[in-house]
Amino acid sequence: MNAAVDSKVYKENRLKAGLLPDYMPEHVAVIMDGNGRWAKKQGFLTRIKGHEVGVDALRKITTASAELGLNYLTVYAFSTENWNRPKAEVDALMNILMGALEKELPILLANNVKLKAIGNIHALPSKANKKLMSVMDATSGNDGLTLTLALSYGSQEELVHAFRKVAAEVAAGTLKPEEISEDHIERNLFTAGMPNPDLLIRTSGEQRISNYLLWQLAYAEFYFTPVLWPDFDADGFYEAIATFQKRERRFGQTSEQLTAK
Ligand code: FPP
Repeated sequence: MNAAVDSKVYKENRLKAGLLPDYMPEHVAVIMDGNGRWAKKQGFLTRIKGHEVGVDALRKITTASAELGLNYLTVYAFSTENWNRPKAEVDALMNILMGALEKELPILLANNVKLKAIGNIHALPSKANKKLMSVMDATSGNDGLTLTLALSYGSQEELVHAFRKVAAEVAAGTLKPEEISEDHIERNLFTAGMPNPDLLIRTSGEQRISNYLLWQLAYAEFYFTPVLWPDFDADGFYEAIATFQKRERRFGQTSEQLTAK
């Protein structure tokens, strides 16, 4: 190993060892942003290379999450708004998705990772949809980390879909409007059955949530980093978790109430 690699591994291990095992987030959500800017900065003529290298970053973060024993990692891979990008980029992203699903399956299996998807996945090209289903099926018996890809996902659309389901129950007379609770909404979201994220990470310096998990992020801690997604690695991930571990999550209570417990 050369000295640079040596010192990177040393830093990574030190950061990892410094994390508090009893205060790990159960669910981390990620907005993987900055692929296009990364490609431009590196001098590539198109943005596609950024998405390709973005897959490597996703692998690193998935492996790090599995090693830390996290239960859920949910990543924004393609938004409903991303369909409006130039056709060449949308096509390239769909090809990258299919290639990644093919190539990463053995790694998901080796790390006991279950793959899931949220979003309007029927809108994906049928080949990509089929590939996705086959990898979800192949990993369905894994009981370690659940990696969820948000694909053709938009949170407002998800909420409309959930409200329609609840409204249909009201219309059918099986639910009274005054009986509608948070639980009724939650069980009709794509994320039904998953705990809400404890931590949201967004790369690339942007500080907004871009129609991502609007309901589910109600009490999440937000962590923004200027690092562009293709450069994000286990180091950066451990730093985000270390920051999360220093935050006091009050859920509306006072600091004194929490320390008295
Ligand atoms: C945002 O960067 C990223 C995306 C729209 C796509 C995310 C996709 C990957 C990380 C590839 C791996 C994932 C799968 C499984 C397909 P951007 O293009 O908006 O970057 P910019 O803000 O710098 O333009």
